[in-house]
Parts: sequence; C-alpha cells; structure tokens
Amino acid sequence: MFTLIFIFFCAYSVNTVFSTGCESKGNCEECIQEVDCAWCMEPLYPLNPDGSKPQTHCRLKNDTTKWCRDASKVSPKSGMRILQDLPFSNDTDNPLQVKPQRIKLALRKGEKYELKFQYKSTENYPVDLYYIMDLSHSMKEYKDDLARLGSKLAETMRNITTNFKLGFGSFIDKVELPFVSTNEKKLKNPCPGCASPYSFKNHLSLTSNYEEFVGNVKAAKVSGNLDSPEGGFDAIMQAIVCKETIRWRKQARHLLVFSTDAEFHIAGDGKLAGVIEPNIAKCYTDDSEYLKYDYPSVSQLNYVAEENNINIIFAIVKKPYASLKESYATLSKHIKNSNFGELNSRDANSVINLILDNYKKIVQSVKFTSNSTSEIDIKFSSTCKSPIPGRCNNVHIGEVLDITATIQARECLPDGQKSTFVYLKPEALHQGLMVEIEVLCDCPCSSKTHPSYVPNAKECSRQGDLKCGVCTCSEGRFGRNCQCDSSISTSEDIKNCIMEGSNEICSGFGKCQCGKCECDSSSSRDEKIYGQYCQCNNYSCKKENGLLCSGRGKCNCGVCECQAGYSGDACQCEESTTNCIAPGSDSICSNHGSCVCGQCECKMDENRYSGKYCEDCISCPAQRCEELRHCVEYKAYNEGVYKTETPPNNCTNFNPEVSKKLDDIPDKDVKKCRILDGNRCIMNFDYYYEERTLIVRALDHKVCPVPPNVLAWIAGVVTSILLAGIVMLIVWKVFTTIHDRREYAKFENEKKALKWHNSENPLYRGATTTFANPSYNRPTSFSPDPVISTSSEPDIHVLDEDK
Ligand SMILES: *[C@@H]1O[C@H](CO)[C@@H](O)[C@H](O)[C@H]1NC(C)=O
Ligand SMILES: *[C@@H]1O[C@H](CO)[C@@H](O)[C@H](O)[C@H]1NC(C)=O
Ligand SMILES: *[C@@H]1O[C@H](CO)[C@@H](O)[C@H](O)[C@H]1NC(C)=O
Ligand SMILES: *[C@@H]1O[C@H](CO)[C@@H](O)[C@H](O)[C@H]1NC(C)=O
Ligand SMILES: *[C@@H]1O[C@H](CO)[C@@H](O)[C@H](O)[C@H]1NC(C)=O
Ligand SMILES: *[C@@H]1O[C@H](CO)[C@@H](O)[C@H](O)[C@H]1NC(C)=O
Repeated sequence: MFTLIFIFFCAYSVNTVFSTGCESKGNCEECIQEVDCAWCMEPLYPLNPDGSKPQTHCRLKNDTTKWCRDASKVSPKSGMRILQDLPFSNDTDNPLQVKPQRIKLALRKGEKYELKFQYKSTENYPVDLYYIMDLSHSMKEYKDDLARLGSKLAETMRNITTNFKLGFGSFIDKVELPFVSTNEKKLKNPCPGCASPYSFKNHLSLTSNYEEFVGNVKAAKVSGNLDSPEGGFDAIMQAIVCKETIRWRKQARHLLVFSTDAEFHIAGDGKLAGVIEPNIAKCYTDDSEYLKYDYPSVSQLNYVAEENNINIIFAIVKKPYASLKESYATLSKHIKNSNFGELNSRDANSVINLILDNYKKIVQSVKFTSNSTSEIDIKFSSTCKSPIPGRCNNVHIGEVLDITATIQARECLPDGQKSTFVYLKPEALHQGLMVEIEVLCDCPCSSKTHPSYVPNAKECSRQGDLKCGVCTCSEGRFGRNCQCDSSISTSEDIKNCIMEGSNEICSGFGKCQCGKCECDSSSSRDEKIYGQYCQCNNYSCKKENGLLCSGRGKCNCGVCECQAGYSGDACQCEESTTNCIAPGSDSICSNHGSCVCGQCECKMDENRYSGKYCEDCISCPAQRCEELRHCVEYKAYNEGVYKTETPPNNCTNFNPEVSKKLDDIPDKDVKKCRILDGNRCIMNFDYYYEERTLIVRALDHKVCPVPPNVLAWIAGVVTSILLAGIVMLIVWKVFTTIHDRREYAKFENEKKALKWHNSENPLYRGATTTFANPSYNRPTSFSPDPVISTSSEPDIHVLDEDK
C-alpha cells in the first residue's frame, strides 16, 4: 500500500504549471483564501475522474467529480449568528432604533456577505440642544430675541419629543491683543454696561428646565472686542469635548446651534497674539489654556463633531453683503452633519423656524456608516422610498427601514487576532449594530493537534510532517516526499536527469529532483509529458486534417499508434482496398494501377492511365463503355446478345435510367459512350459514380441510319435546275433591258449636246486688237460686227497695225 502511495508521490511533481487559480495553491491556507477553492486534506487524494493521478490538493469547490471525499474537503462557509436582538424601544435611557444589536460573522476571505438589519426612527427620541451665542455687542438684539423666545423654542421642541434638554453658552474671543483690548479699564468694562471679555463661557448645562434657560439668556451680558472675526471655533470645540460640563447624553440626538454675526478666527490666527501651539481638541480646565493653544482647525472640528455625534447648526445673522453667508455655507460643507441658515432681525421667530427646519432635515435623513478598516469592506444599501446614494430621505417617525450591509473581508486578520469588531450605526446617532467579524483564513488540519497531522510521517520519508495531506519537510529536505537532501552534492543528480545526446535537464519539460525527472504537468488536461527524461509527450505527433493521428490512433512519444484498419505515420491510410475498386467492377484500380493508402496510384506507361479508378487514358475513350454495352443494350432496349442468352450476374449491379436527353451534370465526371451495334445503329449512353455506386443513363432510342428516297431526290434536282434556269433567264432579261435603256438615254443626251453646244477649237487664239480698214466700205456707222470680228483672219490685223 505505501509503495503505491510512494509511486504516486514520486511520479508527479509539486512544482508544476497549472491552469486554474486553485490548482497553483500549494497549501491549505493559500487554497481556502481563494473564495472559489477547496482543499483536500487526504494524502491519497485527490484523484482524477478516472482515478489516475493526483494533481493538486486544491480544486474549484464546485468541482463535482469525485476528486476528494466530502469529509476530507476543507472549504469553510461564511455564516452569521445573532448575539443580541432586542425589540425597538423609545426607552428614555436606552432607546433602540437599530435591530439586532450584536452579531457574530464568520467570513471567508473575498466572499461578499449580505447582512440584513432594520432601522426604526422611534418616537420621543431624546434630543439635546446646546445654544452657543456670540455675545459681542452687536448681537444684543438677537440675545434679547432668544430670551423672549426661549420658552417657545422649548415648547416647539417638546411638541416633537417629550425627552428634550436645552443648554446655553457664549463666546467672545481670546483675551489678548489684537483680538481684545488689554487696556486695564477696557478689560473690566469694554463698553458701557458690558461684561469683561472671555473666550467661552458655559452659562447653563443641558437641562429640561427651560425657565432656567430663559433666565440665563436674559442674565448674560454682552461684551466687547477689537477685531471683526470672533473666536467661535474655540467655543464649538469646548462645547463638544467638555462632555461632562455640558452634560451631553450618550443616547440622544445632539444639536449644537451656533449663532453669530461675524467671521471666525481659524487655526494659525493665534500667532497674532503669540499663541503658536496647535489646538489639542481637549476640554480646558483653566481659562489660561485658551492663550496656550491656537484656534482649532476645520478638520479638527469635523473630526470631533463626527466622533461625538454632534449636528452643528450655523445660525448666521442676515447681512446685506454676501461674504458672511458664503463663509459659513462653505464651512458647513466641510463639517459632517452640519447645516446652515440665516437669522432675520425682523422676524423674531426665525431662530425657532431655523432650528425646527434643520432638526427635521436631520431626523428625516438616515445614512449608515461604519468604522471598518481597509481590511473589511462595507457597503450599505436600503429599500427606502427616496434614496439618494447611501442615504434615505424623508424618513418618518415610526417608519422601519430594511438596511443591507454588504460585507467583504479583503484581507486576513493579522496573525494572532481572532476577530475584529465593526460598529454599524446611523450618522450622528449613538446606538447601532456591533458586528464581530472572524475572517476564515486558517485550516484546522494545519494544527498539530488535528487527527490528520502526522509528525515525521512515512509519506514524507520520515523527514517531515504530513500536514493537511501534504508534506512539510524539515530543514535541508525537499521534494514532494521530502526525499531530497539539499546538503548532498547535486551534480551527479543532475547528470542523471539529462538524456544522452541532449544538453537540457529533463528535456526542458521537467525538474530534476534528486536524480529523477519530475515532468511538468502540461497546462491542458489532455496533454501529458512523460518518460525518464520527460522526452515523451502525447501531443506532438503528425496531424492530418487538423487531427492528431487523423483521430484514428494514439500519440505515444511522437509516434502514432493507429487503430486497426489504418496505417501511415499519421494513421491517414485506410488499409482496405474497397475505395480502389470501381463500383460494379471487381478489379483493383481497373487493373491499371495499385491501391496505395486507400487510393489508386495509376501506372504511368504509354497509355497514361488516370481517374479515380485508373479507368481513363488518353488513347482509350471511356474505358468501361465496352464492358457495359451489352448490359445497357439489353436493359435499355431489350436487344443484343443477352436477349437470347441469360445475362451474367454483374448486369444486375445497375439499371440504366432511360431519358430523352443526356445532360451534363456539373461537378460529375460523366463518361460518354457511343457504340455502334450490329445493325449499324448508334447506342448513346453515359455513366458516372455517385459515392460508391455506378449510375448509367441511356438515350431512349438508338440512332439508326435512314435509306434515301430516290424519286424525291430526282424530282428535287429537276425542280431546282428548272427553277435555277428560270431565275437566270429573268435575271438576264432584266439586265439586258436595263442596259439597253441606259444606252438609249446616253445616245439621246449626246444628241442633245450636239445640237446646243457651240464648241471652239482649243488651238485657236482670239484676236487681241481689231482694226477696221478705213478703206473698207462699210455701212454708215462704225460698229464692228461680232461675228465678222471673231471670224476675221488675225494675219491681216497684225499687218494693219504695223502700218
Ligand atoms: C464553478 O465555479 C466557477 C468559478 O466561480 C464558475 O466559473 C463555474 O461556472 C462553476 N461551475 C459550476 C458547474 O457551477
Ligand atoms: C413610546 O412610544 C409609544 C408609542 O409608540 C408611546 O405610547 C409611549 O409613551 C412612548 N414612551 C416613551 C417613554 O416615550
Ligand atoms: C404643539 O402642538 C400642538 C398640537 O399639534 C399645537 O397646537 C401647538 O401650537 C404646538 N406648539 C408649538 C409651540 O408649536
Ligand atoms: C468600531 O467601534 C467599536 C465601538 O466603538 C469598537 O469597539 C471597535 O473596535 C471599532 N472598530 C474598529 C475597527 O475601529
Ligand atoms: C494524453 O494523456 C492524457 C492523460 O492521460 C489524456 O487525458 C489525453 O487524452 C491524452 N491525449 C491524447 C491526444 O492522447
Ligand atoms: C460482366 O462480366 C462479363 C464476363 O466477365 C464481362 O464481359 C462484362 O463486361 C461484365 N459486365 C459488366 C457490366 O461488368
């Protein structure tokens, strides 16, 4: 049994190349930290579906093959347990608006868990309102308003919640130049009827007695300072952090109303008075500390306000210029859960309306937050009616919201930390849901006390511990079974891993492990590398038509092992000769060639045979015509030699299709046959192959010679001669007639020309000058006669001239 295990372990290497993420994980912890993977903690497993070889102990957890027994699979599941689930309550001291209150969550790393819980805005939720007022002289009017309206404010708030407390504080500025005049007289009495200046004073801690509030506001005296910005930040900080003095209740909504008509000093302004130490965000026990520490910064205020669930409402006196409003609007954007509004000097109720409006805004808007660190990712969502990202608006008192927190552990917790606590709560409220999160990153089988843990195991050559099914080798040992000793020289080992004639260790396809090659597992499941030097594989054989060994054999170390009936280096050859015999024939390649690899190779002699069955040649028109003629003659026309004698068996192999015309068939090599039969008639037929069947087609009639008709012939000849003669005669007659007419017309024309034309001898030269002989007796007037002139002899005229 153990030798078998050993063989399993030796044959396959751990250092392999795998495809999926799971398979590359070498130990249980790494494996289960991938959310989709499961680990098999048995040494014999896992198996391939065919039971063949162990590949890796880590697989996809939804792998349905029997690769590991279910009991041995390590794949922790996320789960939740409710530890405390009290009903919603509007109890004065312990109101519960979130349900359940305590939960324990076990989370697989990377997995997203949807935690569902509820929020209900309960009636009479406790409210603390602390009013801080700028008591510089210019605010007197507003102080008087507040004193007047104090009882109305309390009443209005009581209408909302019976559980309401009110407090009052005021501020001027740091008592130092240049903020406040330090002139002794001015210090005592900065303005007529004014109190000495101070930084911040708590006049009244939170109380439900609003008459006290009214009394305190009335009694508070205004004071005076020098510069225009005031030290309000110091006051806000102190009002938030001095929890005992102000008496903020933990389980209450905290409203801090900050009322002023001036700008504020910011961190760094303290330098003007020589105060350089930054603010420490602590409650001062002594007034001198205001001169020790600078004004707090905006981010400090933001931090303490969020930390202490304080909603700040900036109630700013309306001014004709915009800059004051703008400063506070910007400030409220930078402080979480803060709001901003303007007081109108003409409307005394404006302070109540401002508080009421902002209070409604605060109560109706619910947003959940958590204090999770980067390791735990938490996102909130809700099914509320008017959601804006991450927030529910218009939440009414008594309405129950279903909240879903999607929790994902991004990292394992630091070593030694079992679990972490995360608090989920609505912004600016105290009560929430405490979640204890345990991130499942460890395998129980890794523990030395686990039953599967074997120290110095046989499987590990007694040189290591068997942990979660794999060997953890002691120092200096390695290999899958800790079979290798790193202290022994390895040059001899490596020699044993190199094949003769090669210079690569394990042919480049494996690792040398103490003198033995451990071949790589190929990236694909159907590829295998093997052999003593990993020189073999089952995927590099010849391919035919894209198929390894034509798909008709196994590839073994580069050679195709063909199935029966096939041969060739890629199993591409069929051994049977059926493909070489023409259908309806019994000779291989028509006796003009040999059958090689299932196909005819024709003899290349003087006839140059060709065709699939070597049935064609240049000098022999369609080879099988002779062979088929008698059967065709008998079957198509019921004539020929087989009419008298019984046809041989091979005639039954086909039945000629008889048709009127023998059309060509595209893509088919149709062989045409014209055969002269005994009666000097021509028989037309053709044949071709459809797969392995012979198809013969014959013309529905033979073409026989017709005897000539002598009489008709003679008559035809005579008629045609006669006709030809007549035609020629007519033609001749027409010709001669036309000719005669033309000649006559010509003669007539010439006759006309003779009569009219007065021609002149071309040699004649007309006289240039004409003189009349004066002696010539002539009629009374001298007028040369044209007729005489033209007919007179030139010689005489010339002579006359000379004279
Ligand atoms: C198994 O899980 C993987 C990764 O989550 C997924 O891609 C695959 O489709 C799952 N297969 C089955 C059969 O569920
Ligand atoms: C709690 O709310 C109920 C109605 O929801 C009310 O009747 C009861 O008086 C409230 N209790 C307190 C202590 O406010
Ligand atoms: C308180 O509520 C009652 C009834 O809703 C109303 O009549 C009264 O005016 C309210 N008081 C104040 C101060 O708003
Ligand atoms: C979150 O807040 C709770 C309660 O205040 C605290 O116990 C827990 O340690 C805090 N968690 C972190 C991660 O800061
Ligand atoms: C190669 O071997 C593997 C493992 O035995 C097998 O799954 C695969 O089908 C084989 N491939 C071929 C082409 O024979
Ligand atoms: C049938 O066999 C006879 C005798 O062997 C042969 O002469 C004839 O050509 C064959 N006919 C066919 C159609 O093969």
